[in-house]
Amino acid sequence: MVSNQPTLDTMVPTVEFAEPNSDLTPKMSARNVYVYYGEKKALDDVSIDIQTKYVTAFIGPSGCGKSTFLRSLNRMNDTIAAARVTGDIHLDGEDIHAMDVVQLRARVGMVFQKPNPFPKSIFENIAYGPRIHGLADGKADLDNIVEKSLRRAGLWDEVKDRLQDSGTALSGGQQQRLCIARAIAVDPEVILMDEPCSALDPIATARIEELIDDLRGRYAIVIVTHSMQQAARVSQRTAFFHLGKMVEYGVTSDIFTNPREERTKDYITGRYG
Ligand SMILES: Nc1ncnc2c1ncn2[C@@H]1O[C@H](COP(=O)(O)OP(=O)(O)O)[C@@H](O)[C@H]1O
Ligand SMILES: [Mg+2]
Repeated sequence: MVSNQPTLDTMVPTVEFAEPNSDLTPKMSARNVYVYYGEKKALDDVSIDIQTKYVTAFIGPSGCGKSTFLRSLNRMNDTIAAARVTGDIHLDGEDIHAMDVVQLRARVGMVFQKPNPFPKSIFENIAYGPRIHGLADGKADLDNIVEKSLRRAGLWDEVKDRLQDSGTALSGGQQQRLCIARAIAVDPEVILMDEPCSALDPIATARIEELIDDLRGRYAIVIVTHSMQQAARVSQRTAFFHLGKMVEYGVTSDIFTNPREERTKDYITGRYG
């Protein structure tokens, strides 16, 4: 059972939020990041600071490099043979390219567009990561981590009586919450989400958006979305990308009501998409 006692991390006082690109220590920082696929430049000199306890949305027209940049933050581009990343990316001041990639991806988890549970039981989907990372101290502790992760992802009540059923038998929205629970189970610091609702119906989408809001006190969350309404609803910071460049980054309400750049204005007013 999960204890109802307050834990250390729920007792941490609210921190002052840093402004984007301020000198308050960011959770992640990227400087002069370029990504090439073969000869083709897909990302062009992107620099950004990602703060913890924020949801940061990446918006911009299809093909502008949002997913490419997101993948560079936990080195998922390493898995694409043609991709080459240059520039500096740090997590808590540490160069991610000098880190063990398995450790990095536990600290910087990812949730994909299409829910991709393992073809294993609901329990195993969550237990797998903590087990391989040695996070559980015996069976009872593993049970505890599984329950805590499913609770945090808002899925526990729906699945607690069928933990041995296959994860793939759940509905799309439940599968996506299972994937979020799986990311949470290894105690990440950053959660990257690439259009996590685009395969979901509006009700399942609303649940994920609520969940993102619940989670943001604990993690740095970065969400790629093609929906400006979604970015406005879930994020506190928004970065607008266009043709491989990050054109503008700021407080979400400013980006949507008072953008500094003409290209941002054109995009949010629907002049291109
Ligand atoms: N695996 C890949 N191989 C070659 N080109 C790619 C690959 N992934 C993305 N690209 C190209 O990089 C550019 C940026 O793509 P992407 O990051 O997927 O954009 P977005 O997520 O904003 O739609 C596009 O021109 C796309 O065609
Ligand atoms: Mg994409």
